[in-house]
Formats: sequence, C-alpha cells, structure tokens
Amino acid sequence: MTGLVDLRSDTVTRPTAAMRRAMAEAEVGDDVYGEDPTVNALEAEVAELFGHEAALFTPTGSMANQIAVQLLVPPGEELLCDADAHVVTYEIGAAAAYGGVSTRTWPAAGGDIDADLVAAMIRPEGFFAVPTRAVAIEQTHNRAGGAVIPLATMRRLREVTDAAGVALHCDGARIWHAHVADGVPLAEYGRLCDTLSVCLSKGMGAPVGSLVVSTAERIERARWIRKRMGGGMRQVGILAAGCRYALRHHLARLADDHARAARLAAALAPYGVVDADRVRTNIVPLDLTKAPVDAPALAAAARAQGVLVSVMGPRLARLVTHLDVDDAGIDRAIEVLSGILEG
Ligand SMILES: Cc1ncc(COP(=O)(O)O)c(C=O)c1O
Repeated sequence: MTGLVDLRSDTVTRPTAAMRRAMAEAEVGDDVYGEDPTVNALEAEVAELFGHEAALFTPTGSMANQIAVQLLVPPGEELLCDADAHVVTYEIGAAAAYGGVSTRTWPAAGGDIDADLVAAMIRPEGFFAVPTRAVAIEQTHNRAGGAVIPLATMRRLREVTDAAGVALHCDGARIWHAHVADGVPLAEYGRLCDTLSVCLSKGMGAPVGSLVVSTAERIERARWIRKRMGGGMRQVGILAAGCRYALRHHLARLADDHARAARLAAALAPYGVVDADRVRTNIVPLDLTKAPVDAPALAAAARAQGVLVSVMGPRLARLVTHLDVDDAGIDRAIEVLSGILEG
C-alpha cells in the first residue's frame, strides 16, 4: 500500500531491508526438536529481559495469551480481566473453546484499574463458587487507546493476587510501549507477573512472533500446550531472527511513534474528538460522538484521500503510529482528517 498513510494498526509494518537480511542469514534447525539456535537465542534473550527463567516462541499474540491462560486456569475455573481486554473480546472465545476457562470482567477501565474492585471480585474455592485462579491485565491497553497501567497499580494488583493466592498474567503485546513511555524496566514488569505474553509484530516491526514468558516449569508445559494447539513450527529461526533484529533496533525508536501520536492528538483535539492529555503511547482513539461524521464515513472519506484509519465502533475510530509512518505521513493525516472534521 505504498503512497498511503496507513494508521489502521501497528501490525501493518513490513520488514525493513536490514531485517530481511538478518532473516535470510538466520541459522535454523527444527524447533519442535528444540534445535533451532535462533529461536533458542530469542527465547533466552526475552526471558532475561523480563527477569524470568524461560520463554516460548509462538506464531501469534493470541496463541501466547491462550497458552498462558491454560497454564494458569484449569477447565471450569475462572479468569478475571477488563471488559475490553483483548483476551476476552478479540480472541474469538478461545479461553472457553480451548481451555474450558470461565471468564468474568470488571467494567472497562483501561489503565485506571481499581485494585480494590478486583480484590472484591476474586472468589475463593467453595462447593458452589467458580474459583478464581488468575487475573489478566493488558499493558498497554489496546481498546483504551494505548493507556499505560501505572507501576503503582501493577504493584497493588500483585499484592491483591498474592493475598488471594491467584496468578497475575500480563498481555504485554505492547509492553514495550509502556516501558518506553514510563521508563519502567521490563524486568520490573516481569517481576510482578507470573506469566507475560509479549509481541514483536506490533509496533516493533517484525512480521511474525510472540513469546510466553514465565518459569522454566511452566514453559515446559507451555511447549506441550503449544504443540497441542498446532503451534509447533520447524525452521522458524527465520522468523525469530526478525524478532531479534526488532529487539535490537526498534525498541528505543518507539519514542518517535509516541511523539507522532501526541502530535496527531494535539492537532485533532480542537475538534473535540480526543483528549490529547490521555494519549501516552502510539494509539489515538477518536470519539466521534459530537463530530459531523460517524466512524465509517470518516474512514471512507480519509481512504479516498490516501489515509487509512480503523473503525472500532459506530462513532469510534482509531489511529495508530508505527515504523512505516514518518513525519510527512503525520502531516498528511492531520491535513486530511482536519478537513473532514471541519465538516
Ligand atoms: C493487546 C493485544 N493482545 C493480543 C493481540 C493478539 O495478537 P495476534 O494478532 O498476534 O494474535 C493483539 C493484537 O492486536 C493485541 O492488540
């Protein structure tokens, strides 16, 4: 889609020439036998970054989340999460379909999680109750406009889960963005969570690749669950090499994406569609409740002028900055979207 400014998602990036070279030159082996040196190196690097013992490469973030859910919650028992969490809204009922896991949600809160509410929702084991086994959070929160969960909230949630004897999972598809925005070490996020899923193909620019991060014992079991889900891949070091390249070259530059999102938000705030102060990372949600156009009309008018945006609801659109959108693309998007919002 050259020539277009594609702000639909940070998943649309294409591997750079240098990343493709690293992928082409990757040493590979059969990863189902544990013999792919590039995958093994990536798993060791990511585990170390988060201060955990081990990690497991998966083809998608959804599979990484669902493996973690199956690790933490036995069939018929319960996972708690935000009502807008990816793990319950966009994974097509996988927790129930694959893990037999029951889910219950707190009202959508983005990064502003009320830990006392979560504590009150946790149900103990009993003859009638569905026992709560894990709490899942999303860092950063996709549907909440890339909201960052503050470190203090995560620490409080750890206290709550420890007190109740339940596990804490983090869907960290964009945890890199939280780390860059708040300066919290990845190992501190890792220390607070029993399992994390992290993704190198959103914003970080790799074409494919997520990992589950946890203890060596859980990751051994995760390998078995991944195989059962059809996720055992062979000479997949070609993909892991793209992920390793992304970790080395595309992490610090996420600050550029955040600055571009902030510029977009500041330019569109006068139209009453976004609170620029709440845009902290690379996602700009547009609330079109009071705008002269709804989300499908905005998307269609923008597309006709070469700017692509996501429709998230009848009056909710989303813009996401990433590796393949530069300052000129942001200028163009501001010009086009301002023209449409002026009516
Ligand atoms: C927060 C979050 N978690 C998980 C995923 C799932 O990733 P995948 O599309 O690789 O399954 C996404 C995808 O956009 C996401 O935004």
